[in-house]
Amino acid sequence: MKKLEIAVIPGDGIGKEVVPVATKVLDTVAEIHGGLKFEYNEFPWSCDYYLEHGKMMPDNGLDILKNFDAIFLGAIGNPQVVADHVSLWGLLIKIRREFEQSINIRPAKFFKGLKSSLVNPNDFDLIVVRENSEGEYSEVGGRIHRGEDEVAIQNAVFTKKGTERAMRYAFELAKQRRGHVTSATKSNGIVHSMPFWDEVFNEVKGDYADIQTASYHIDALAAFFVTRPQIFDVIVASNLFGDILTDIGGAIMGSIGIAPAANINLNGKYPSMFEPVHGSAPDIYGKGIANPIGQVWTAKMMLDHFGEQELGQKLLDAIEDVTNEGIKTPDIGGTSSTNEVGEAICSRLKEVCSVS
Ligand code: NAD
Ligand code: IPM
Ligand code: MN
Repeated sequence: MKKLEIAVIPGDGIGKEVVPVATKVLDTVAEIHGGLKFEYNEFPWSCDYYLEHGKMMPDNGLDILKNFDAIFLGAIGNPQVVADHVSLWGLLIKIRREFEQSINIRPAKFFKGLKSSLVNPNDFDLIVVRENSEGEYSEVGGRIHRGEDEVAIQNAVFTKKGTERAMRYAFELAKQRRGHVTSATKSNGIVHSMPFWDEVFNEVKGDYADIQTASYHIDALAAFFVTRPQIFDVIVASNLFGDILTDIGGAIMGSIGIAPAANINLNGKYPSMFEPVHGSAPDIYGKGIANPIGQVWTAKMMLDHFGEQELGQKLLDAIEDVTNEGIKTPDIGGTSSTNEVGEAICSRLKEVCSVS
């Protein structure tokens, strides 16, 4: 029996609604597999926890998490009660940084059964490899002076090591896909870090003669996501550019509620963390209508991570079938609830797996 110990952090808002749906789906996957078991330990670390304890997680929180096989997280943030920079630096970003989750993988693809708002909605299938530990999200800077002289400074930090690591990951991934890497840059003279980014990209691509490459300025690239996403296979992007591109990735699939993500620790010293692209969506929290697909697809990425690609693919097919049958939450034009979509995915998965 392959037993996987998962730290579950539902977090805030709709994280608390979609995470239980996804763990139920994972249990269905384990049941079908027969030799796989997920053991969950749930941690209530969130903005509610902060209100009670004055911190987002206990002081030994990272020590507790570090022995798990993976972390499965919903979303963090309830800006009405705790400022985002407090909640996010206190939990989400802390885990990504301290556990050296230097790569954020975020796929987007044409999804059966969705009415796309794209100009050209034919099949697209891309993955953004987002640098996840530095860049524009640096800790260098702060607020100085007060009153009318107040200044906020944040230095973007691009290390050779971090930049090259993200790029090599993208090239390796492209080898297993359609052999194409696009670099998201902004090297037209304004942003000092980006000519450096281009230099590293050119250096790395020298080691991958079989991979085709392209390089676009981020503003044009964002527009191409909308007008012709089919030209992309793997895109490598800095922390902030990757963040923005992947909300667009969700939108062109039909909803940000669908988009999955994985924060990968490459050196094996710490667990990786699986959390969807979307946030805690306070505007729809409590209505039972959050789309659970982003969280469930994120669970599929966790299955891939544990070497269960075959079952992962069946899960993704089941999600598409359910969407195609019209069992959808309101954000993608349906009338089903979060739980109804989850139950339909479990049933479809059982059906598919009993006939194969
Ligand atoms: P958001 O992603 O929470 O919501 C943006 C819009 O998308 C909202 O209209 C929301 O209703 C909709 N949406 C998001 N997920 C959905 C789903 N599963 N189903 C249906 N609709 C969905 O982004 P925001 O409003 O900018 O941020 C809200 C809070 O979440 C903030 O505190 C923010 O910092 C935080 N946040 C956290 C994470 C994370 O923990 N990984 C990611 C993004 C934002
Ligand atoms: C994401 C989120 C986070 C990010 C925020 C909440 C810090 O937007 O995971 O996409 O920018 O990385
Ligand atoms: Mn984001």
